[in-house]
Amino acid sequence: MDIEFDVKHGLEGVAVAISSISYVDGEKGELVYRGFKIEDLIENSTFEETSYLIWFGSLPNENELDFITTMLAKKRELPEEIVKMMNSFPKTSHPMEVLRSVVSLLGMFEKKDKSTFENAINLTAKIPTIIAYWYRIKNNLPLIHPRESLKHSENFLYMMFGSVPEHSSLFDKALILHAEQGMNASTFASTVTASTLSDIYSIITTAIGTLKGPLHGGANEKVLDMLEEIGNLENVEFYINDLINRKEKIMGFGHRIYKTYDPRAKILKNWIKDIFINKKIKYFEIALKVEEIVLNKFKEKKIYPNVDFYSGILYNYFGIPKDFFTPIFAMARIVGWTAHAMEYCKNNRIFRPKAIYNGPKNLKYKDVKGAE
Ligand code: SDX
Repeated sequence: MDIEFDVKHGLEGVAVAISSISYVDGEKGELVYRGFKIEDLIENSTFEETSYLIWFGSLPNENELDFITTMLAKKRELPEEIVKMMNSFPKTSHPMEVLRSVVSLLGMFEKKDKSTFENAINLTAKIPTIIAYWYRIKNNLPLIHPRESLKHSENFLYMMFGSVPEHSSLFDKALILHAEQGMNASTFASTVTASTLSDIYSIITTAIGTLKGPLHGGANEKVLDMLEEIGNLENVEFYINDLINRKEKIMGFGHRIYKTYDPRAKILKNWIKDIFINKKIKYFEIALKVEEIVLNKFKEKKIYPNVDFYSGILYNYFGIPKDFFTPIFAMARIVGWTAHAMEYCKNNRIFRPKAIYNGPKNLKYKDVKGAE
């Protein structure tokens, strides 16, 4: 019997859902949330307002914005039992391991009768607290409890460091930039979990585990590893050429959809450039040189910086350690994950693709002694 091989490796080009949440034009380098260009949103909106837009499909009025802001502020604290457990985790645990595990644990402590939307807000409010509490526990520092009067992004930086730093609005905008991006790997994985009608904690645990990988959200940490290893401008050319000769992937470059500059990378780079005019930003000059060499080498393959290339330099500027970069990605992307889960489940069908079997079919069983 002939087997027809029709495998779309990595599901490239395969549409798995119809969605009105975001649009990516990979040729033009454009990103749109619910009809609004990302450049417009980062200029005029806040993380709270953009979250409402992504969840509900339109910008909130004053009351609606007040509602979402209040809900996100009131739900920040973690159950005491969870904090106790976090104190017993090995201090060597990666913050993404902690985030993945604590989201999963929360599922056992939260009331089960909430709507998916209430659950989405609850987890969005609590993820920054999980991350900041782990930073404090890991570093043997006393916990700083959330403050309802602060914005979502400001409160996170406050819980990490005890004050809201200069340029904190850029951090808020960086969350907007990371909030949503169509059917990327973690959104797809979590939508698969949602399609089995599983609970929100399982959906978001799936998403966090998928985002963690260095080919996806984990790349932002790996970029900083690379920039640190390069160390100074003189080493860039040798280091990058060596990676290319060894056919290794250069972290923070390339994208399945963007075949031009990722608009988010462009925005991040420009912010850093603006701060750089007055202050020296660690690794920025090295990053610019890496970009120049990679763009030159891979002109034909259309490999450009993606969102993960410049984000770590900005977070590093705020004093955030590199192993906390991917959790910050998750802290923003939970909005997209939950929006897609809710949208997909309105017209749900369980995901069940197939694999084409190419192994043997007529083997005869023998036991461990060789008897048939
Ligand atoms: C994110 O999907 C999303 O939208 C994701 C994301 C989001 O917001 O959710 O944008 C966030 O995950 C950004 C990507 C972060 N990952 C990295 O920076 C890791 C490095 N990049 C890659 O490994 C890669 O570019 C991917 C994983 C991002 C995309 O993988 P694809 O689409 O499967 O592309 P590929 O690996 O098949 O590469 C195609 C060609 C290959 O060359 P050929 O074999 O055809 O000769 O391009 C080359 C690759 O070798 N290539 C690279 C490269 N990326 C692609 N070569 C060197 N360095 C790279 N980074």
